[in-house]
Amino acid sequence: MKLKTIDEIKNLKGKKVLVRVDFNVPLKKSGAKIVVAEDTRIRAALPTIKYLLEHGAKVILMSHLGDPGGKVKASLGLKPVGATLAKILAMKGAAPTDWVGKKGLGKIDAMRNGEIMLLENLRFHPGEEKNDVKFAAGLASLADIYVNDAFAAAHRAHASITGVPKFLPSFAGLLMEKEINVLGGLLSKPKRPFVALIGGAKISTKIRVVENLLKKVNFLLLGGALVNNFFAAAGYGIGASVFEKKELKTAKKFLKNKKIVLPVDFVVGDFKGKKAWVAPVAPRRSVLCKKPYALLDIGPETIKKYSGIVRKSQTIVWNGPMGYFEIKKYSHGTVALGQLIAARSKGKVFGVAGGGETIEALGKTGMAEYIDHISTGGGAMLEFLEGKMLPGIKPLLKNSNNYLIT
Ligand code: 3PG
Repeated sequence: MKLKTIDEIKNLKGKKVLVRVDFNVPLKKSGAKIVVAEDTRIRAALPTIKYLLEHGAKVILMSHLGDPGGKVKASLGLKPVGATLAKILAMKGAAPTDWVGKKGLGKIDAMRNGEIMLLENLRFHPGEEKNDVKFAAGLASLADIYVNDAFAAAHRAHASITGVPKFLPSFAGLLMEKEINVLGGLLSKPKRPFVALIGGAKISTKIRVVENLLKKVNFLLLGGALVNNFFAAAGYGIGASVFEKKELKTAKKFLKNKKIVLPVDFVVGDFKGKKAWVAPVAPRRSVLCKKPYALLDIGPETIKKYSGIVRKSQTIVWNGPMGYFEIKKYSHGTVALGQLIAARSKGKVFGVAGGGETIEALGKTGMAEYIDHISTGGGAMLEFLEGKMLPGIKPLLKNSNNYLIT
């Protein structure tokens, strides 16, 4: 995949560059204030921001935050994000401004080279999610050049992602480029053996990625509540474990695939973590647990089995926790494998992880920094690994003739 990249932009000095970032970050209350709870996505956009600033551009950042549904919702304003960014960059000028109206435009006109501005939450405007052409044209009118660095939002065909590049020369930011190169490399030329660990709660959101990865990997290790579907489909009693009835047929189909590796034991317990024990999986269908108990983590034998495969692999991809990791008793599978993946990465082995919950779980390992690449994308990473061409990437391709309206 050949992208138009920012180093191809000639003479950035004095140019107004509209940069789509994904600053959709978790927030939390701190006294009476709302602050950023986790700033990975903000830091991930820094290389592009710094590159543009250092080359004398006027940087206009835009992002969505949460889902305000096309209306102004004060609690989803980008002010806390602006404050975090200003602090990280140790510079002023990152307070969010709404682009609508002469006031915002006036402010942009007054910007000096090497200055930065953050627009207010794009989703305060109904035109963003509707991909309204007038809204996109309005955004484009603010700048000379468009840069998309929001890989995590590249699966959304929204105005700031697919609309704006119709009006402006468009380029991929450094984060976008890195995400595409790393994840694209996994799909096209992984070092083997190649193992993927897929966990999380819902099988329906992971089916297509499982299908596509099965064509690429040597082993696919499954965990999290999504494996409940396989055991339910194979006739095991799974008590109060969550599963998706309409997906049992698909799970049955996957059961025959030799690359898929399933748990050989589980940590069973109640959802509050008061009572928990290990239940081995008997070779024939049996009752793994009864209500009100559920399968809540992979068990110690499974950790051993999965670790053996991970240890032999040269490429490792991980998305989704192996259990209900928010409760300590059910976090061991996720933490143990997270630590192992981190310990194997940054050497001969290439380790990649991604997804909101996975990043949170990695935080618990204290070893996130050792992973070769942590994708900022949740849904976007999954859709990319499904083998789809994401709508946000298309206008950034070298052969794209998307920029038609002048
Ligand atoms: C994400 O968090 O995955 C992206 O920011 C996209 O957000 P969305 O799912 O609200 O479109």
